[in-house]
Amino acid sequence: MPVFPQSFIQEVRSRTSIVSLVAESVKLKRRGNEFWGCCPFHHEKTASFSVSDEKEYYHCFGCGAHGSVFDFAQKILGMTFPESVEYLARRAGMDIPQATPQEYERERKKSGLSEALEAACKFYEEQLEKPAGREGLFYLQRRGLTPETVKRFRLGFAPSGNALKAHLTREGFDTNVLIEAGLAMKSERDGSLYDYFRNRVMFPIADRRGKIIAFGGRVMDDGEPKYLNSPDTPVFSKGDNLYALHLSAQQARKMQEIIVVEGYMDVIAMAQAGIERAVAPLGTALTERQIELLWRYAPEPLCCFDGDGAGQRAAARAADRVLPLLTAGRSLRFITLPDDLDPDEYIKEHGKASLEEFLKTQYRPLFKQLWGMLLANRPLDTPERKAGLSKDIEECLEKIKDPTVQGFYRQDFKSALWEITSPYKNKAKNAAPTGFDRKRGAAKTAVPVNHPALAPERDDTRMLLAYLLLYPDVAADFLEDLADWQAPLTGQDEALAAVLDALAADPDVTADRLREHLSATGRAGVYDRLATEIEMLKRKSPLPQDARENIAALLSGMRRKNLRAELLRLAEKIADADDEEAEKLWQRYQNLLKEEKGLA
Ligand code: UTP
Ligand code: MN
Repeated sequence: MPVFPQSFIQEVRSRTSIVSLVAESVKLKRRGNEFWGCCPFHHEKTASFSVSDEKEYYHCFGCGAHGSVFDFAQKILGMTFPESVEYLARRAGMDIPQATPQEYERERKKSGLSEALEAACKFYEEQLEKPAGREGLFYLQRRGLTPETVKRFRLGFAPSGNALKAHLTREGFDTNVLIEAGLAMKSERDGSLYDYFRNRVMFPIADRRGKIIAFGGRVMDDGEPKYLNSPDTPVFSKGDNLYALHLSAQQARKMQEIIVVEGYMDVIAMAQAGIERAVAPLGTALTERQIELLWRYAPEPLCCFDGDGAGQRAAARAADRVLPLLTAGRSLRFITLPDDLDPDEYIKEHGKASLEEFLKTQYRPLFKQLWGMLLANRPLDTPERKAGLSKDIEECLEKIKDPTVQGFYRQDFKSALWEITSPYKNKAKNAAPTGFDRKRGAAKTAVPVNHPALAPERDDTRMLLAYLLLYPDVAADFLEDLADWQAPLTGQDEALAAVLDALAADPDVTADRLREHLSATGRAGVYDRLATEIEMLKRKSPLPQDARENIAALLSGMRRKNLRAELLRLAEKIADADDEEAEKLWQRYQNLLKEEKGLA
């Protein structure tokens, strides 16, 4: 019988639907995500035997029978383990690998590496209890970790010197195994063997089943590198695994949500606070394989990267990398914590409940993330620059392989582009066919909503809002005018309201604090929507007194525009009104006319 490589067995397991295998011999009925039937391992009349593709196992609540596709094939079909692998591989249409002696040797070696890694993990854990590991223990305590958390994540300490090598050789491990497992290195100078991790707090890295495959070691001061990770070995490749996946899988499946954070400490701090569905990449950008792995747990994993440059670049890379992999229903979401906090710091500052709330309400779908990336740092004030954006959108679309998903992205990009570049946008969006009143149906309305004179000065409104965002202290002087001002037909009312309430709460608000306020109340999107104007303003960066003048000019310009619109509306009404009514309206008309002259 051949010896199958672990990776092949894994492949067979993931290509076999346990539900369809079991369904060949047991009658199953769907209930939620699982299938139920009468247990084939003991006699029963009511179904207590459950099978789940997600969990990749069957379980009987009656007799406790439990196992994988291989167990099922062995027990029900009477096969040995290798036979079950071969049977299921053929069933899945896979070629059977012919094991060579070299392959056999490689498999044998790998299990030697796993044993060494497990022994190392135990050794590091034990050091925390010993005088040699006191410093490590204090470090973990200083970071607020409880003994339960330390135990759950199997944190440990690697003493200085070559303590691990000494320990593992005493235990009978071959020095070559230690080197291959990434636990020891050969000195280039004299060929002597030394420990790879020294004087570091140890974070073991496990595979999906909880088997230790590598370590990350953190310095306790500000030495470099801050985190040292195991090199890639036959049992560990950085891009194929995620930190703490085995501990986070359960809650992730249950909640259908998995969170990707940047740091090991973030995962741990979140878990300690009860958010036990976070994982982290292993010192590299998120890979395609990691994204595929995440999708086994939730359809739209949430990437929560730091707000600094590195974190945002990581988010951008993930957004770009996922494009070719997108299919119906599968995507990524993104979220950035305020004030450049990482999740660990955020929990310390605001608590767990606040983080859960933030995660629930403040994420951006992939589309928004991409749109933000496309607009970042690019003015759209000339046709060529607009065309440049359009070209980048096209490039982004080309990366999406799934035709249906691509089609919808094309549509959404088109309307987003229209939204920011078309001078007719507001007319088009708000005005249904002429004379069509949305509330009253087809009845003719008095107001021709898409009359050119009523089209708002879109650019002015947007410009004014940009001023408010960047010069809120100056804007505070115009509080009354602003409160009167309805952002007409522009869809910017939300932005205006947000700014006004921030100003009302704190008349001395600065641009930075306004930004914090808006993002804390979930309205940070206004910065994206006004990105072009904000960019323009930033480049001009007028002095506060100029800003004041410009704001005043914009406001009176808009007031005039509104007056003219109102006059037009009145004129139409007067034409349709009876005499008595017309007389009243005429009075108002005259008053407004005077006001308009006063503004001019
Ligand atoms: P951070 O420096 O953001 O980590 O790096 P952190 O978890 O916030 O660190 P502390 O302990 O709270 O200060 C994020 C991740 O990047 C990888 C590690 O996986 C780390 O968890 N990294 C970072 C490295 O691999 N090497 C490094 O030198 C630094
Ligand atoms: Mn941190």
